[in-house]
Amino acid sequence: MQFKGLVFGIPKEIMPGERRVAAIPETVEKLVSGGAAVLVEKGAGEGAFIMDDDYRKAGARIVEDVAEIYAQSDVILKAKEPLFNPEKNKHEVEMMPRGQVLVAFLHPAAPDNHEMVRKLADQGITALTLDGIPRISRAQAMDALTSMSTVAGYKAVLMAANRVPKFLPMIASAVGMIQPANVLVIGTGVAGLQAVATARRLGAVVYAVDIRPEAAEHAKSLGAKIIETGVPPEVAIGEGGYAKHLPQEWLLKEREAIAEAVAKADIIISTALVPGRLAPVLLTEEMVRSMAPGSAIVDVAVDQGGNCELTVGGEVIEKYGVSIDGTKNIPGLVPASSTYMLSKNIFNYVSYFIKEGKIELDLGDEIIASSIVTRDGELLHAGAREAMGLA
Ligand code: NAI
Repeated sequence: MQFKGLVFGIPKEIMPGERRVAAIPETVEKLVSGGAAVLVEKGAGEGAFIMDDDYRKAGARIVEDVAEIYAQSDVILKAKEPLFNPEKNKHEVEMMPRGQVLVAFLHPAAPDNHEMVRKLADQGITALTLDGIPRISRAQAMDALTSMSTVAGYKAVLMAANRVPKFLPMIASAVGMIQPANVLVIGTGVAGLQAVATARRLGAVVYAVDIRPEAAEHAKSLGAKIIETGVPPEVAIGEGGYAKHLPQEWLLKEREAIAEAVAKADIIISTALVPGRLAPVLLTEEMVRSMAPGSAIVDVAVDQGGNCELTVGGEVIEKYGVSIDGTKNIPGLVPASSTYMLSKNIFNYVSYFIKEGKIELDLGDEIIASSIVTRDGELLHAGAREAMGLA
C-alpha cells in the first residue's frame, strides 16, 4: 500500500481569483485506495466546479475548519504558495506543524516570496515546489509548469480573439471574401506552440518567431510561417538547449526582423522567456504604435517582466488603440482543465517520492534536488538561496 497510514490535506486556495484546487476526485480515489486518508476543505473544488459530494464519493472527508486540515495532515497539496489567511488572522504557514510536507507552486526565488520561504524553513516544513521539477523526460508526467503553459498558450489566443474587432478565419460571405486575421506568436516553447495551434484552429494566418531553430521548426510543423531572426545558434542556445539572454546588438536585430510582422499583426501572443532571467523586451512602444488600432497583445511572459515594454502586470491597458493584456495566472481562467492537469501532475509527483507509506526524498535525485525548497529548518533551493544572498 503506497500511501498507507498517511493523511493528505487539500485546503481551499485563498489567493484572490485562484479557482484551481490541488486534487480532483480521481486523484483522491487513488490516494485512498493506496491506503491514505484525504481531508478536503469544504468548498475547495467549487472554483473548478467540483462539489464536496464528488470528493466524498471518492473517499475524502470534507472538513470545515482549515486549521484542522493543517493540524492533522502529513502532506498538504496546494496550487499556490501559502499566504496570510485573513479569516484565521494567521499565515497559512503558521497553521503547519513541524515536519509537515507541503507541495505547491512556491516560486521561492521571487522576491515577494522570500519571507514566506523563511517562514517555511523556521517552521521546519519540508516544502517542495512544483516549479522546480525539471523538464526532463522522466519527469514529464509531473511537470505542472508545462501543463500550465499549455493552458496559458491556449487561453491567451481566446482572450485576444475576443478583444479584436474582426473575424479570425477567412469568411466567404455574400458581400465578398473576408480575409483572415494575422496572429504573431513570439517564443514558441510550450505556451507559444499551444498558441500557434489554437490560432490555426481558429483559422488565422499565424507567424511565429523563436531564436531556437528547433522551436521554430515545431511551430512550422503546426502551420506557422516562420520569421527568421538571423541570431546564430551559438548566441541563441545555452546550456541544456535553453535559449540564452541575447546581447543588445542581437536583440535590436531581432526587433528589426519582426517589425514588419508586428505592424501587420491583429494579435500578438508573446511568450519569449530565458530561464532565470527577465524576459527579453521584443515589443517597444514604437512597435506597438505601428500596429493597427483594435489590435491586441497578450503578454504571457508578464511574470518575468513581459516581452512588451508597455505591459502592466495584472492589468489590461490600451495604448495607441492597441490592448495590452498583462493578466497573471491565465490558467486560473480555465479552472477545470488546469485543475485536471495540475492535480494529476501533483499526484504523479507525490507517487514518485512516497513508497510504502514513507516519504523518501533523495537529494541525489535530480527531480527532488531541484524541487525541494526547505527541510529540517534548512533552505535548500539553489535559486532561492542565490536570490536571497545566501549562496
Ligand atoms: P518555454 O521556455 O517553453 O518557452 C519560451 C520560449 O521563448 C523558448 O522556446 C525560447 O527559445 C524562446 N525565446 C527566448 N528568448 C527569445 C527571443 N529573444 N526571441 C524569441 N524567442 C525567444 O516557456 P513556456 O513554458 O512556454 O512559458 C513561456 C512564458 O509563459 C513564461 O514566461 C511563463 O512564465 C509564462 N506563463 C505565464 C502564465 C500566465 O498566466 N501569465 C502561465 C503559464 C506560463
